[in-house]
Amino acid sequence: MQAATIQLPRILRIGAGASQTLVATLRELALARPLLVTDPFLVQSGFSERLLAPLEAAGIPCGMFGDCVPDPTTDSVAACLEVLRAGDYDCLVALGGGSSLDTAKGVSVLAVHGGEMRDYKVPASVASGLPVIAIPTTAGTGAEVTRAAVITDTASHEKMLCMGLGLVPVAALVDFELTLSMPPRLTADTGLDSLCHALEAYVSRKANPFTDSIALAAMQGISQHIRTACAEPGNRDAREAMMLAATQGGIAFANASVTLIHGMSRPIGALFHVPHGLSNAMLLTEVTAWSVGHAPERYARCARTMGMATTADSDTQALDKLVAGLRQLTTDLEVPGPRAWGIAGDDWFGAIGTMAEQALASGSPGNNPRLPDRADIEELYQRVWEG
Ligand SMILES: NC(=O)c1ccc[n+]([C@@H]2O[C@H](COP(=O)([O-])OP(=O)(O)OC[C@H]3O[C@@H](n4cnc5c(N)ncnc54)[C@H](O)[C@@H]3O)[C@@H](O)[C@H]2O)c1
Ligand SMILES: [Fe+2]
Repeated sequence: MQAATIQLPRILRIGAGASQTLVATLRELALARPLLVTDPFLVQSGFSERLLAPLEAAGIPCGMFGDCVPDPTTDSVAACLEVLRAGDYDCLVALGGGSSLDTAKGVSVLAVHGGEMRDYKVPASVASGLPVIAIPTTAGTGAEVTRAAVITDTASHEKMLCMGLGLVPVAALVDFELTLSMPPRLTADTGLDSLCHALEAYVSRKANPFTDSIALAAMQGISQHIRTACAEPGNRDAREAMMLAATQGGIAFANASVTLIHGMSRPIGALFHVPHGLSNAMLLTEVTAWSVGHAPERYARCARTMGMATTADSDTQALDKLVAGLRQLTTDLEVPGPRAWGIAGDDWFGAIGTMAEQALASGSPGNNPRLPDRADIEELYQRVWEG
């Protein structure tokens, strides 16, 4: 096996109160003029203020861009870049879900290297930009530790995957207390995104021993705690476990890649504006069922790690139980299919060709244990329609 390359933030602080160490983090990194990048909900609900107050007390001036949109677009990134260029900033502090974090990552690269976001989509490799300190408020994307950013091209509606060392935040302050306010639907969607990251990383053709151990830990934490986090939003133990697992899932997939689920999920998000975690969740069971036979030992280990099968089960039995267990989980978490979510049949079936093309172009399906061609992907889109 080839040596694995692992890329991680220089500082990773995890636990209650981690977000309150921003002043110390800036000082450690010799950064002095941050621009806070966040979204309107987090501004209105006081999250940004709680971060800004200690900066003000410490005499650190901080600008703010508070207009991040879900699934950032080339337009919203351009608006943030304009604010950055109008000031004298030496770093970005990204506060929010994956959308705010990816906005800051995109801006950090454009600020230093110029050009358009589409210049940086895979297979291009993104070099270092302005330092980003990432503070996630969802337990989901793991973007605080990944070398990925997903930006939608406003013109073509393509969800562009950009990758490279330049997109790894310099620091991640991972504070589960920021997730206590997540409503059940957001908790389920973002948690299932993390589960897909871990599962896909573990079965990926680019998996390695380092990412394997972290992916398994993430799968165990999520399967054990996701139902509780949804049912009891204030349960601190469940929130803490979910946040840890989200970061672990991020580390795993960033260094082993995602596979077919994410490859097929991005076009659904881009064309139908289905939240990222939910579009993954819509695909999770069927894509796994289609793939298990091509890496039976790996998938069986996932089933046992998530408590869906035991060591008494043969691998074949464990694969059946994995598919059944994932179906049960998405049912319990009330994941709708595309149809139940409200997408019109004509729109869905009319878009299948384009979605299959975009999925293949992202490169992610090429890491799947079972390699799909265009017809396979089209058939899978048809299969998930009813949910
Ligand atoms: N860079 C990566 O590695 C990576 C990985 C996976 C996904 N993504 C991208 O991340 C985006 C999705 O991010 P997301 O799922 O975290 O959601 P998000 O950032 O789009 O946020 C969704 C909504 O949740 C709200 N929200 C955020 N935190 C909250 C909290 N604590 N309480 C209540 N509401 C809260 C936000 O205001 C927003 O309205 C997608 O664009 C996806 O493509 C990036
Ligand atoms: Fe994801």
